[in-house]
Amino acid sequence: MLPIYFAPIQGFTDDVYRRVHHKIAGGVKYYYTPFVRVEVGIIRSKDVRDIAPDNNNGVPVVPQIIFNSRKEFEYLVNRVEALGYKQIDLNMGCPFPLQARHKRGSGILSHPDIVESIIEGIKEHETLQFSAKMRLGWDNNSECERIIELLNGVDLQHITLHPRTGQQQYKGSVDMEKFRYVYEMSNNPIIYNGDIQSLNDIRKLEQEFPRLKGVMIGRGLLGCPSMAIEYQQQNEWTTSQRIALMLDIHNSLMDEYSRILHGDTQMLNKMRTFWEYTESLLGRKPYKKIMKSGNLKNYLNAVNELKLL
Ligand SMILES: Cc1cc2nc3c(=O)[nH]c(=O)nc-3n(C[C@H](O)[C@H](O)[C@H](O)COP(=O)(O)O)c2cc1C
Repeated sequence: MLPIYFAPIQGFTDDVYRRVHHKIAGGVKYYYTPFVRVEVGIIRSKDVRDIAPDNNNGVPVVPQIIFNSRKEFEYLVNRVEALGYKQIDLNMGCPFPLQARHKRGSGILSHPDIVESIIEGIKEHETLQFSAKMRLGWDNNSECERIIELLNGVDLQHITLHPRTGQQQYKGSVDMEKFRYVYEMSNNPIIYNGDIQSLNDIRKLEQEFPRLKGVMIGRGLLGCPSMAIEYQQQNEWTTSQRIALMLDIHNSLMDEYSRILHGDTQMLNKMRTFWEYTESLLGRKPYKKIMKSGNLKNYLNAVNELKLL
């Protein structure tokens, strides 16, 4: 059975969500945090709060950093290490043009020289363990060939590969042929990431790639938070069991966010994101009713109606 890793999803899988998911749903080996980055020369305080050990008590968390130079890499590694972490994930896959244009995320994949300097950095931090999360390239899927060759020169915990290019964003289909290429060429263990929506998707990967270290799931787990535990227990839940779990998670999140957010509008905006990827679980009508609820009262009514599904 493959371990399941929760993918970082900026704006969704924050410290509050990770704590609640871990407590109520579980089944996840590690939660990767959304990337921590440098803004006007320093680490963002919002990111520090998100990875602070006090806010991640008892949750297996690996912080992720994004960088475009050895200088940014060293600065962020030292800041994250100072918080007590021994594992750090390196973002080499973010497709957002704002990051990629500045050679961060998937943008770094067309700059093997920068990747080489980062590898030197990894080797110098002997007490830390690094993993990388990457795509096939920025604008073409052959960029990963040189990058994998370079990464073969260093011991990583694993490489998580999302087999699309950065320019593709989330469009088109995943390139399984190129995924297989990397799976076969890499000396480092490989984790698969991308478009996993069901237990069958995981089982298929398990059969096709027997040396896979695990699977990382993002939107699929947000849309069905019980997927990891269902897979671990080899027991497919009914739609009403899945929705009941979502409602438990929802109620805990309401509790937690009401302590840090102010006013109905902030609360409504935050809570609606919780349902973003649930259309296939809830069905179109209940989903639309939640997403289109214009105020907190209508929102809570729409959520309450899910109990009848
Ligand atoms: C809104 C959004 C935010 C994301 N933020 C991050 C991030 O901070 N770091 C990262 O490595 N990947 C990020 N990703 C990519 C996901 O981790 C994952 O690779 C991608 O969604 C594909 O996996 P999935 O199909 O299982 O969701 C983000 C994706 C989305 C849609």
